[in-house]
Amino acid sequence: MNIVLFGKSGILGSYFFKLLAGYDEVELFAYDKESLDVTDLQSVKTVFEKVKPFFVINCAAYTAVDDCETNLEKAFLVNGSAVGEIANLCNEYGAILIHFSTDYVFDGQNSSGYSENSDPSPINAYGRSKLEGEKNVMSNLPNHYIVRTSWLYGENGKNFVDTMLKLAEEKDELNVVNDQFGAPTYAKDLAEAVLENFVEPYLKNAGTHEKWLDDKKDVFKECPAFGMYHLTNSGSCSWYEFALGIFEASGKNIKVNPVSSDEFKRPAKRPSYSILLNEKIPCLKSWQDGLKNYLKLKS
Ligand SMILES: NC(=O)c1ccc[n+]([C@@H]2O[C@H](COP(=O)([O-])OP(=O)(O)OC[C@H]3O[C@@H](n4cnc5c(N)ncnc54)[C@H](OP(=O)(O)O)[C@@H]3O)[C@@H](O)[C@H]2O)c1
Repeated sequence: MNIVLFGKSGILGSYFFKLLAGYDEVELFAYDKESLDVTDLQSVKTVFEKVKPFFVINCAAYTAVDDCETNLEKAFLVNGSAVGEIANLCNEYGAILIHFSTDYVFDGQNSSGYSENSDPSPINAYGRSKLEGEKNVMSNLPNHYIVRTSWLYGENGKNFVDTMLKLAEEKDELNVVNDQFGAPTYAKDLAEAVLENFVEPYLKNAGTHEKWLDDKKDVFKECPAFGMYHLTNSGSCSWYEFALGIFEASGKNIKVNPVSSDEFKRPAKRPSYSILLNEKIPCLKSWQDGLKNYLKLKS
């Protein structure tokens, strides 16, 4: 099975890159930004022509939330229109797209959380650009899995856990925001669950790409319905509680003060309560267990 992976060097993409290497049946064609810029349509077309993929896993994104406020054009190009072009090409080549989106498509005003069917209403440029990407996938390509996730961390790329651990080496005391709540998610747990739920059923049931294209209806019974999915580690916390969890699990001794978002001004507004309810497939393990597994790797 030919699989194209875009964004192979990011937090999430790097786990797909590692994990997919373990599947004998998969021939992986993986690209980072240097080898393939997803906004370069001609290069993306060339990849489709060459690979004729069964799956495209798109982990490429412009994820610098604050910078998106001032680089609107880039945000909408990478997170919006390039995603639409990838979806178009998937349609043309009969490929299934697995694309990732974010809790930041929601405004964070609903303290009961957001299901896959809740109406998005982003409050920052990053969220608006990611919502544009979702819409471009939904309108151009029936064969898609859009997976919204939240607060990712992992071995590759800048993330909150590593930032806290570094600050603990440099400072005795820290202020951390205590009025934004979400579900910290270990990118390895997410990548494993995506492969298990969305890719493995096709590996087991679909046979060759040609057979699947001829024979889709039979395969559909064995495979999850296309559409929108929420997938995060279970439970939720504020950034302050997440920081306490990180220091406790890693045995760091540092004073942490809870502060409000007003005391910690940033260019982009953040939703205050962006919990994704995972109503279609079960949640991943608890965020505390995900964190412990990640910290074990680092010790
Ligand atoms: N990180 C989170 O907390 C979070 C939360 C919810 C949802 N998500 C979503 O999850 C997905 C994966 O995010 P992530 O955390 O793995 O992000 P990440 O670490 O920033 O990885 C994204 C990758 O895409 C690359 N990229 C940027 N522009 C590109 C372009 N024009 N062409 C090709 N590659 C490009 C980046 O390269 P450079 O680094 O060199 O720019 C980076 O390697 C994204 O869809 C994101 O929106 C992330």
